[in-house]
Amino acid sequence: MADEFVLDTPVVRAFVADVRGAIDASSSPEDACERIRPRFAALLADDDWLPAAYQEPVPDSGMGGGIGQWLLFRAGDGSLSLFALVVPPGSQTPVHDHLAWGLVGLYRGDQDEEIYAAGDGALRLAGTRALVPGDFYALLPPRDDIHRVRTTSAVASVSVHLLTNDTGCVWRHAYDPETGSVRDFRSGYVNVRCVDDGGI
Ligand SMILES: [Fe+2]
Repeated sequence: MADEFVLDTPVVRAFVADVRGAIDASSSPEDACERIRPRFAALLADDDWLPAAYQEPVPDSGMGGGIGQWLLFRAGDGSLSLFALVVPPGSQTPVHDHLAWGLVGLYRGDQDEEIYAAGDGALRLAGTRALVPGDFYALLPPRDDIHRVRTTSAVASVSVHLLTNDTGCVWRHAYDPETGSVRDFRSGYVNVRCVDDGGI
């Protein structure tokens, strides 16, 4: 499989090239995230690079709640993806994991995030954080890998994810936080198919 630049612009190509350079030069995921931080901050601060079409909620999406997961780039070998997650006002994601390290930040709107720790039975709420545009964090599983995000603004929130898997197409997990029950979960993307969807 070849790399897929769904949003094929000089900004995205330069960003991905810089990210790959940082990963190649790094000694660990933590180190890579540190090296990528300035580039990721600049992307979140750039008002022009993400077209409005990728900031739209999607009624009847696979994520539910009108949530749109828009792929922007993915590596041909499944080792990297860049996508926008659009959560309408008042909507929230299921409690879910990601199974890959990377950086996640807010581009538009406001979000509240609940972070959970798995244990025996019910999940434990391990922390919360409020995010405003420009805020971002390094995701380094298993630490803080299970969470739920909710939009608190009157407009849809748009978060930018740079993760080291093909997040929309890998099987991961959704949780019932009260019971701790787990189901296999694949979010998909609204604008591209997964290779093993039976599609082309
Ligand atoms: Fe997430």
